[in-house]
Amino acid sequence: MHPKEFHTRFLLLDSPEELSGADAALLASARQAIGMSYSPYSRFKVGAAARMVSGALVQGSNQENASYPAGICAERTLLSVAATLYPGEPIDTLAITYQGEGSSDVPITPCGICRQSLSEFQARTGKPMRLILRGATGPIWVFEDAGALLPLAFGAGDL
Ligand code: THU
Repeated sequence: MHPKEFHTRFLLLDSPEELSGADAALLASARQAIGMSYSPYSRFKVGAAARMVSGALVQGSNQENASYPAGICAERTLLSVAATLYPGEPIDTLAITYQGEGSSDVPITPCGICRQSLSEFQARTGKPMRLILRGATGPIWVFEDAGALLPLAFGAGDL
């Protein structure tokens, strides 16, 4: 028997002043994307913004539906926009933020389905993407590789 372990490493920043100017602007863009959220059912607004490797910016927000499972998270909205506007181009960095009805001072991480989609987006574009996660206030979490959120991911090579 051989025990195996995973270690997930991320950076904890106390404020946006610790981010580069480009990353702080990306987080601000994600915050702005909250305004495009359609979330009358959960009242939980999520905004995302990505900087493509070319420097182009893409935004996404969660889009809900009266048929609840038809709703889509901000992250997958964004991935669809990115793949459509910039086919094959990797995302360098993705910022995700949110505003619920309560406090918003702890980062949220992508849901399981989004982790799967992020994993395949990285695989198909050939580059790990950085993640910047923050609420309205509070600490910022930075992951250098979104794949760290889904160890042992199922992928195209498994089919
Ligand atoms: N949601 C996202 O858009 N991204 C996440 O990372 C977590 C959840 C959305 C889905 C739904 O519209 C609402 O937040 C509540 O789950």
